[in-house]
Amino acid sequence: MELLIFGAGGFGREVASWAGRARWAGEAFEVAGFIDDRAAVSELNGRPVLSLATAAAEHPGAGVVATVGDPRLRERLIAKALAAGLVPSAPLVHPNAEYDREYVTLKEGVVVCAGSILTVNIVVERHAQINLDCTVGHDAVIGAYATLSPGVHISGNVAVGSYSFMGTGAVTVNGHPGRPLVIGSEAVVGAGAVVTRDVAAGTTVTGVPARPRTTL
Ligand SMILES: CC(C)(COP(=O)(O)OP(=O)(O)OC[C@H]1O[C@@H](n2cnc3c(N)ncnc32)[C@H](O)[C@@H]1OP(=O)(O)O)[C@@H](O)C(=O)NCCC(=O)NCCS
Repeated sequence: MELLIFGAGGFGREVASWAGRARWAGEAFEVAGFIDDRAAVSELNGRPVLSLATAAAEHPGAGVVATVGDPRLRERLIAKALAAGLVPSAPLVHPNAEYDREYVTLKEGVVVCAGSILTVNIVVERHAQINLDCTVGHDAVIGAYATLSPGVHISGNVAVGSYSFMGTGAVTVNGHPGRPLVIGSEAVVGAGAVVTRDVAAGTTVTGVPARPRTTL
């Protein structure tokens, strides 16, 4: 299936480097190029960089992943791509990432990078992004458009809200059956933070243990 990578920044180039080796339901992805209306170049790492209009005209019906870390920006890019006639990509999972399709549900547009491991009874909602070397434990939900940066560890019984952003190396302790640890929607968890209790929606927490940031 044809794949367009919306965002020709660093993460987009990383994803493009392996996407052609990924498969979904036995079918390989064929990377048609990047979409980036603001790029100053027409080619990157041997692949064309196209405007959205050109990409939609040349590759009608192609699947799209948005390769930006900012959850709300990712949502806007996907909305633009769909309005232009493209479709959400099937989940794009690096061949070295580990998960069992019997126990893990990945929704459309999800990206899972190399080294990441998802165990059992997990749902990853649409367009969530799981970067390099993350782990997601049992009974976890990763919300729509959530971002797990490299090296994030989500313990068992944790719900990561939609549009939340977890910085590099952030970790959570576990929740409990019927009482998950909840990271609220649009929350930001700073790099290296250790989340030990629920994070309210829309708040930024940092540190060990993670605490809401106070502003002056
Ligand atoms: C928490 C975060 C969102 C704060 O961003 P910000 O508001 O722009 O913060 P600033 O860079 O202005 O830093 C403000 C202060 O917080 C400190 N700080 C920044 N991030 C921190 C973190 N993760 N943990 C603890 N302290 C942090 C800074 O050292 C600075 O302290 P100082 O005023 O004593 O010098 C951000 O630093 C962060 O951790 N982002 C995650 C980035 C990431 O992992 N990206 C993944 C790329 S793949």
